[in-house]
Amino acid sequence: MSAPAPRNILVTSALPYANAPLHLGHVLEQIQTDIWVRFQKSRGHHCLYVCADDAHGTAIMLAAEKLGISPEDHIGAIHALHQQDSAGFLIDFANFHSTHSPENRRWSEEIYNRLKANQHIAKRKITQAFDPEKNLFLADRFIRGTCPRCKAQDQYGDNCEACGATYSPSELIDPVSALSGATPTERESTHFFFKLPAFENVLRQWIGSGTLQSQVANKLKEWMEAGLQEWDISRDAPYFGFEIPDEPEKYFYVWLDAPIGYIASFQNYCDRTGHPFDAYWQVGHDTELYHFIGKDIVNFHGLFWPAMLHSANLRTPTGVFAHGFLTVNGTKMSKSRGTFILASTYLDHLNPEYLRYYFATKLSSSVDDMDLNLEDFVQRVNSDIVGKVVNIASRCAGFLRKGYNNRLSKTLPEKTLWQDFVTAGDAIATLYEHRNYNKAMRDIMALADKANQYINDRKPWALAKQEGTEEDVHAICSAAINFFRILMIYLKPVLPAMAEKSEAYLNCALDWTELGTPLVDHGLAEFKPLMSRVDIKAVTAMVEASKEAQVTATEPSAAPKDSADTPSCIAYDDFAKIDLRVAEIVAAESIDGADKLLRLTLNLGDAGDNRQVFAGIKAAYAPEDLIGKLTVVVANLAPRKMRFGVSEGMVLAAGPGDQDIFLVEPHAGAAPGMAVK
Ligand code: MSP
Ligand code: ZN
Repeated sequence: MSAPAPRNILVTSALPYANAPLHLGHVLEQIQTDIWVRFQKSRGHHCLYVCADDAHGTAIMLAAEKLGISPEDHIGAIHALHQQDSAGFLIDFANFHSTHSPENRRWSEEIYNRLKANQHIAKRKITQAFDPEKNLFLADRFIRGTCPRCKAQDQYGDNCEACGATYSPSELIDPVSALSGATPTERESTHFFFKLPAFENVLRQWIGSGTLQSQVANKLKEWMEAGLQEWDISRDAPYFGFEIPDEPEKYFYVWLDAPIGYIASFQNYCDRTGHPFDAYWQVGHDTELYHFIGKDIVNFHGLFWPAMLHSANLRTPTGVFAHGFLTVNGTKMSKSRGTFILASTYLDHLNPEYLRYYFATKLSSSVDDMDLNLEDFVQRVNSDIVGKVVNIASRCAGFLRKGYNNRLSKTLPEKTLWQDFVTAGDAIATLYEHRNYNKAMRDIMALADKANQYINDRKPWALAKQEGTEEDVHAICSAAINFFRILMIYLKPVLPAMAEKSEAYLNCALDWTELGTPLVDHGLAEFKPLMSRVDIKAVTAMVEASKEAQVTATEPSAAPKDSADTPSCIAYDDFAKIDLRVAEIVAAESIDGADKLLRLTLNLGDAGDNRQVFAGIKAAYAPEDLIGKLTVVVANLAPRKMRFGVSEGMVLAAGPGDQDIFLVEPHAGAAPGMAVK
């Protein structure tokens, strides 16, 4: 086998907004990317996956304001949650950075200065809706009013959800600011524009170059035909972002510095590790650059971004890979049905590799939407991974241990069949390379069927009962273990943790580069369970928790779970990590739209140490009765973003529920901040 020359590849997935925790749609994208990256590495290529939080913009600024915290604190808390969620799904980032970083400021200014020097920046006055109470300009989605066409009330500033009309906010009847309720006024302001039309020819060439999926290229062509417009890249203060050099009170629009965040994250990685930077972003190197994104953001990655890179004399991407949207049980993820599933909620209940495999069976190179059908999910994983793949190893492990001291036969049995398994790898590799994971999984499962069929035909369990068949049984089981090894090489990009367990058992690395070397006269380790079945009850519990997550606080997500090795009680050492403190409730209020939750402000002793905590105790306590009371709080819980804001702890309460919930109240004489022993 000739090894392909090693490639140097940089891969990104879209930067999630730093205003909410990840949901399974984000996870789909990261899993698609991660499988591709792990595949490249397994093939012996040098491949780095960088990502970051997209931390700027009005939405994040307003969310922080609502929480009464600084935007920096807000994005800091979310950054930690995002990293925890991605790690839970075994996403192998080389770096997860933030667009609110010195590297990104430097690169955004640098690129802007280059565009400006090339006369690709225009400056002119525009008139925009303005909120006179909040003193800020209003993006269309922050204006609500009556639809000028069908007269439906409370519609967005740019389109009507009732009749589908699109219009400009000035046409709305009785417009109000969604932020303050004030009637917007019109105000003039100077904005900065990127001269996209100057790149018409460059973009035509890029769209026709085969870099993009045909569905994406067609969409972009349509936009080109409609005429390219100059792109507004500035926003007025107050804004959370980077101020434009030499233009006080003017900020880069979030989408200007967001893709530059790819460069910044990589820069940060290179500065930390000494990895070369220039070869990946300057023009004229043979490194490769790929962006994985959702279909909703192809205009930014297919038009604005390559044009900016071109003007700034930086390299353009080798490929932009767009995927479709995730639906659950056939419809858009829904909070009330419990199918708006957060990454952390999934991880509280299920093994991440179940979902990695299920998504792999669904993902292809197309931009079509994909459905997570929860019944199909259980069935697919149990039948393929547990029923087929694990089964091969577990059927043979016992014989090999008992009769052969866990040592494989001295020569490779079933050479022809083994060679078929190896040869199938070429087609599977091509499928991975082109992101047709669904077909790759089908090919792999067809091989697993073949391996099981082989064992069924040879019946080692029947032979073992006869005399003088030791060598046959040894050969059959040794062949089967070699088939299993090849299957796990093919599955390792999808199932990295199960592959690691298999590596421990097989006592060898499962890299694709090792494919052609069978295990002969080779010692195995003790066989341990590789993957347990999906429990439908865990799926139901996850759906219930997803409904709940909208209204009550939940604990932070635990590490990925395999039900086989989840202990049902916690060790004392773990318990001792919990920091319980006396807290005084200094404020309590109900929350619009939440029927179980109260928002509590707790004082933990030090003057500055006020915490916001959400508690599902509204049915049991009137807010005004709580103020001034002492209670006990878990003080070192990781902050958790909930629908109504970040919860920075958890109050202790007990009882059957509803009206019968009782807050834990410490003895009179306790003081805020005291540790509870
Ligand atoms: N911050 C921008 C991306 C900037 S990239 C320079 C953004 N953020 S996002 O949080 O809204 O989405 C992040 C990624 O997740 C996008 O690629 C988006 O398409 C993807 N998805 C968000 N919801 C999704 C589904 N329901 N299904 C699949 N992917 C989805 O856009
Ligand atoms: Zn309407």
